[in-house]
Amino acid sequence: MPDATSIESIMREQRQFPPPEGFVNHAHVRSLDQYRELHARSLADPDAFWAEIASGFHFFKKWDRVVEWNLPFAKWFVGGTTNVCFNCVDLQIQRGRGDHTALLWEGEPVDENGQPREIRRITYKQLLSDVSRFANALKQLGVKKGDRVTLYMPMVPELVVAMLACARIGAPHSVIFGGFSAPAIVDRVNDADSNVIITADGGFRRGQIVPLKAAVDEAATLTDRIKKVVVLKRCCNDVTMTPGRDVWFHDIVANASDQCPAEPLDSEHMLFLLYTSGSTGKPKGILHTTAGYMIYTAYTAKQVFDLKPDDIYWCTADIGWVTGHSYVVYGILQNGVTCVMYEGAPNFPAWDRFWATIARHKVTKFYTAPTAIRAFMKQGVEWPAKHDLTSLKLLGSVGEPINPEAWMWYHEYIGMGGCPIVDTWWQTETGGMLISPLPGATPTKPGSATLPLPGIDAAIVDKSGNVQPADGGGYLCIRKPWPGMLRGIYGDEERFRKQYWSEIPGAYFTGDGARRDADGYFWIMGRVDDVIKVSGHRLGTAEIESALVSHPAVAESAVVGFPDDLTGEAIAAFVTVKSGIPANDELKTQLLQHVVHAVGSIARPKSIRFTEALPKTRSGKIMRRLLRELATKGRVDGDTTTLEDFSSIARLREEEA
Ligand code: PRX
Repeated sequence: MPDATSIESIMREQRQFPPPEGFVNHAHVRSLDQYRELHARSLADPDAFWAEIASGFHFFKKWDRVVEWNLPFAKWFVGGTTNVCFNCVDLQIQRGRGDHTALLWEGEPVDENGQPREIRRITYKQLLSDVSRFANALKQLGVKKGDRVTLYMPMVPELVVAMLACARIGAPHSVIFGGFSAPAIVDRVNDADSNVIITADGGFRRGQIVPLKAAVDEAATLTDRIKKVVVLKRCCNDVTMTPGRDVWFHDIVANASDQCPAEPLDSEHMLFLLYTSGSTGKPKGILHTTAGYMIYTAYTAKQVFDLKPDDIYWCTADIGWVTGHSYVVYGILQNGVTCVMYEGAPNFPAWDRFWATIARHKVTKFYTAPTAIRAFMKQGVEWPAKHDLTSLKLLGSVGEPINPEAWMWYHEYIGMGGCPIVDTWWQTETGGMLISPLPGATPTKPGSATLPLPGIDAAIVDKSGNVQPADGGGYLCIRKPWPGMLRGIYGDEERFRKQYWSEIPGAYFTGDGARRDADGYFWIMGRVDDVIKVSGHRLGTAEIESALVSHPAVAESAVVGFPDDLTGEAIAAFVTVKSGIPANDELKTQLLQHVVHAVGSIARPKSIRFTEALPKTRSGKIMRRLLRELATKGRVDGDTTTLEDFSSIARLREEEA
């Protein structure tokens, strides 16, 4: 961990925006005082606070105890049995929402007038029928409670159906983002010991077909764990079906019954694994369980998006990331609202796709990432100006710090000055949002995620756990357990303890540096570990490094993140080649392709520099700080006193990829 003093924030944003008056009158929480009272109460008696919230959910058997906390292991709603799928679907129907649209989906392809070729509206009743049939089909394939099922699919309703079907029968899912390549599938399938993959022939993205089935076929040549592949016909591109292993989605649901009672599952039954990057080359399977995650995502979605029955809510995140799990699927459907889902790219067929979609479906709550906002900003205000965005009531941001400039643009040109912006800070590990404004209560400051949600005890501390004074930089940690927290890293208790619970005494270490201002507002500065955020996508430097060194020409490599106006951070790779191999542009191109093939296009370095040696400390540690400086400024001014071989810095040739 770097020294806390190195986490100095230079941002000193002074603007403040009170919640819009029209919004406050109808909001669930209506004043800062009400929020403060709620927050204080939640920390004074967490059991009572969470018990009250949990009473609004369906349990087959009520829990006996709210929480059992043996650091670092938490159990929530102990002794209860429930089912997340039941709460997302059946319960909504019981509440009279059966004919309400649950999913409002748009495919990417458009007709000659630029209108989407496919729009599907799926009611809660229809969703129950689709989910039940697919759940029965999974059982027919031999999937049992506890079996891990891998999903590698485009953003189509069948992905949601598959997730809910898994949840219904108690088979934990592991969704792999469609942008990852075959070797990434292999790592995850092997780690999860998952025998069944659900995929599609392809998915549409920016007018192209992403050949998902072909990637699964390649993965199946690299591991023998894949025993069954279910293939959804989406793009009608050619695929090879392997007899005995591959089956069509439409075939297996054709004769399946639409009656499949939800399985009562222990509160702590594993709901899903979601692989994410950390500081080593091996992605970790973040483990979430049933009741705590269910309640936490539904509660936070309701409070932060201020959800009301008639909301048309749209989160643009891919379901392959945690934002899609929690705030496209689980947290949203449990609130019985309509969830918009879009298959493709934000700029297809043109830069107004998002704004056209908002106008077409009269979206009321819109949740996206700073990277997207910055990309739209660059294209100009004429794109949103073409569309009627007056249906919007609230805007959200997630995934990386939002710079005040992008915040202001979002506020002015998308929210027309009248929508509260919720800048929500959280992580794959946290399950749901932890730091965020409550839109009817919290005055916002552009660039700040503002205050911890009720139930969340967040603090900025130094390495010893001492709380930092106002405006002092430090490590963001969470000092009390919360229901949505991860329960572990799949199969690796040691790494779980070390990564999250050994840095700060008695608290969960987030890996983020932050400061808290005199009003108690949190300003997130970014990761202090070796995780980088490219367009909000989380990547581990070690994963990209191991991809690079797996190329026969590479002796050693170091990868760092550096600031980028559009993607937040970009990847700089420093590479030492084996002796006798020419370090030229051709090799550079090969290396870029190699990384894309090994990890996926999201991991493509923006620059590759060849170097005769990497700067290291006397103990042999690569001095990433220096490399970051070099990638950012093109030179090194920082302290190099511990550097073993200073000349390696001087020898680093600057070459842009
Ligand atoms: O560094 C923080 C950043 O994203 C990290 C978590 O990444 P991931 O697990 O992929 O989850 C992203 C979606 C929840 C955090 O450690 N991050 C996320 N939201 C924000 C943020 N940084 C600043 N502001 C945010 N609102």
